[in-house]
Amino acid sequence: MGLVWMVAAAVAAVLASWAFNALVYLVWRPRAITRQLRAQGVGGPGYRFLAGNLAEIKRLRADTAGAALDVGNHDFVPMVQPHFHKWIPIHGRTFLYWFGARPSLCVADVNMVKQVLSDRGGLYPKNLGNPHIARLLGKGLVLTDGDDWKRHRKVVHPAFNMDKLKMMTVTMSDCAGSMMSEWTAKMEKGGSVEIELSHQFEELTADVISHTAFGSSYEQGKKVFLAQKELQFLAFSTVFNVQIPALRYLPTEKNLRIWKLDKEVRTMLMNIIKTRLATKDTMGYGNDLLGLMLEACAAEGGHNPILSMDEIIDECKTFFFAGHDTSSHLLTWTMFLLSTHPEWQEKLREEVLRECGSEVPTGDMLNKLQLGQHVPTRNSEVIRPCVAHSEECGFGS
Ligand code: HEM
Repeated sequence: MGLVWMVAAAVAAVLASWAFNALVYLVWRPRAITRQLRAQGVGGPGYRFLAGNLAEIKRLRADTAGAALDVGNHDFVPMVQPHFHKWIPIHGRTFLYWFGARPSLCVADVNMVKQVLSDRGGLYPKNLGNPHIARLLGKGLVLTDGDDWKRHRKVVHPAFNMDKLKMMTVTMSDCAGSMMSEWTAKMEKGGSVEIELSHQFEELTADVISHTAFGSSYEQGKKVFLAQKELQFLAFSTVFNVQIPALRYLPTEKNLRIWKLDKEVRTMLMNIIKTRLATKDTMGYGNDLLGLMLEACAAEGGHNPILSMDEIIDECKTFFFAGHDTSSHLLTWTMFLLSTHPEWQEKLREEVLRECGSEVPTGDMLNKLQLGQHVPTRNSEVIRPCVAHSEECGFGS
């Protein structure tokens, strides 16, 4: 009987401590954080037990899903982030909102954003919160901080050296060339031809990354990409769900699929890397992103590679994640703008023909193309597309 009482007491103690922690996390902490920030003048939509503001975000997103922007209207925020569009006029450009019980600070003031992004003192560590997305990226550059970030950076940076990138432009133009040959073939068949550009650019950028990252191992690289893309879809489908930690470990249908894909990605990348390492004496590491990364890793670390196999795998995942949607959406948006501004199509075509003649543009020729770098917007501001890598992370600079 004594033993039964002891077990019952132990179970009760564990449950009480669990309930206490849950109460602190779900009730006391949100109240304390809200109070502290209110005292500093930062308001926001109130916290709701467990779900925070997720229900409202989901509802607002559902209301705008499927809506189409007017052709002349570039204001996409009300559609892609309707919650910010609603809250900023009410709570100002800096406010607190809740991803479940996780506090998030929206900073929509450009100067404050600059301050946060340019901070190098470690005041704003990277933190994705969503475990599925964190797993998707692993501990690659995008999610590492401090000394770890510097160590990764040493290995990844040489791969983005301007001369190496220029060499890769041949691969890029080859990929673009074969996409355009397919268009030409379709058009030669006659009749009206409709091409869904955003899909085409998704394919093109996937091809370019697979080739530039994995060179001769392109076929396997493309398979990694497809598995990564499905993982990304599954991870993002949970972004606005309440995250209950225990659910992450349950063998639900979605979790089983995520675990399987994750394992596949890891195994495929490990095989590509092992093959490279095994053939390096005869074939070299290779001039693609992976080869350049492995070379820098060996040069920096000697017998103790500066990055482990898992960390190199995470950097490969990061290339796909960081480089795919960014590049394909930029291309789609550029084409959309050009289609609505035929006068700019003319100017740019004229410049390309003047500088490159009938040749396929090379990396060196790109510097001569000035117009595309300084396109005036409707209100005459000057925008410089895609400076993120020279200003934010120094890639290519
Ligand atoms: C139009 C295309 C692109 C845009 C607009 C873009 C934008 C950005 C931005 C804003 C950051 C900084 C993120 C932060 O610090 O929170 C970043 C980082 C990064 N990007 Fe890109 N990117 C593009 C293409 C690519 C491509 C093609 C790759 C690789 C194949 C890539 C790999 C990375 C990596 C590894 C980082 C992390 C750098 C670091 O922390 O040191 N990106 N990108």
